Amino acid sequence: MAALVCVSDFERYAHEHLPKSARDYYFSGASGQQTLEENTAAFRRLRLRPRVLRDVSRVSTETTLLGRRIAFPICAAPTGIQRMAHPDGEIATAKALADLSSCMTLSWWSTTSIEDVARSAPGGVRWFQLHIDSSRETTVDLIRRAEKMGYEAIVLTVDMPMMGQRYDHIRNRFVLPRSLKFENFSKETASKFSETQSQGNPRMARRLQTMIDPTLNWDSVPWLISVTRLPIVLKGILTGKDAREAVERGVSGIWVSNHGARQLDGVPATIEVLSEIVHAVDGRAEIYLDGGIRHGTDVLKALALGARAVFVGRPILFGLAYKGADGVKQVMEILREEFRTAMALSGCTSLNDISRALVAHESYYWSKL
Ligand SMILES: Cc1cc2nc3c(=O)[nH]c(=O)nc-3n(C[C@H](O)[C@H](O)[C@H](O)COP(=O)(O)O)c2cc1C
Repeated sequence: MAALVCVSDFERYAHEHLPKSARDYYFSGASGQQTLEENTAAFRRLRLRPRVLRDVSRVSTETTLLGRRIAFPICAAPTGIQRMAHPDGEIATAKALADLSSCMTLSWWSTTSIEDVARSAPGGVRWFQLHIDSSRETTVDLIRRAEKMGYEAIVLTVDMPMMGQRYDHIRNRFVLPRSLKFENFSKETASKFSETQSQGNPRMARRLQTMIDPTLNWDSVPWLISVTRLPIVLKGILTGKDAREAVERGVSGIWVSNHGARQLDGVPATIEVLSEIVHAVDGRAEIYLDGGIRHGTDVLKALALGARAVFVGRPILFGLAYKGADGVKQVMEILREEFRTAMALSGCTSLNDISRALVAHESYYWSKL
């Protein structure tokens, strides 16, 4: 087999080797998948404007996330059911990210427990992604477990008051493989879920909705802040107005995301909305971005437009499908080295050198003709 040298090589490998139902689960976007295409296409519409002759013999990619040092600004987004890609699943991801000194976000839909993930990679920077269940008590229990095990932030996913329509999941009547379990669900949530499983799709999506509280609203944010000492990040913000609402309620981070195009189809690519959000937040919270990051140059573009760090979802799953922890490490190292090279070739030696002037929309050049 030829060497895998870029994220799309790992993507091809995963596409060829995963069983159909896992492959469709990981690769799908929502509905007509317009946003899925746009997430990557929008990066290609941006052009880099490199500066030269700047002594790039030393390049540092280090930064901090909510005050915690990480070696490079590319982290793991939460993705559910990682043990379907490799038996080591979330533990493999945790080990790879800890080895590389970057941050892993563990999903609420994880097939490994909060505790096992934390114990498998001591010292790693980890965040926990949360959905608020209709029982506030079970939600608080989950937060306490994350706090106790050293997770450093709670990421509340806000773009999923109900499941997006994913045609392949419906066609395949996707259900969790029998050998796996959602390890962090409370007894109550687990029993709702097993009812769901026995019915299979298309009812599954509708029943799953009952597990996430659809009544959540802006008052839920101060409540969440009041029940934990951990910083809160809201994941799934796509407008300046919502970013402003979030900051006014005291969140520490805004995570620009369209859920990897799996929720509302027809929304913009995340990179397209980043500037609007940066202006609205005006330095009052950290801003992160995910969606369609497949190259080091994508990372550079996102940072130039104001993201503090980026997160990748599917690339982690491609790495897992290839070779567990080793595969995730390889994918992340490729992105890190591509990013470092892109920085040097643009004349940047630290993240402070990456500025808005480094990026122009393709139309800028045509308007000069
Ligand atoms: C298979 C899959 C499962 C996901 N599971 C979750 C999840 O459990 N919680 C969540 O907040 N986001 C979830 N997401 C969204 C990711 O966190 C992230 O926003 C998205 O994957 C980024 O886009 P990318 O895959 O192009 O990098 C999932 C995405 C995928 C592809």
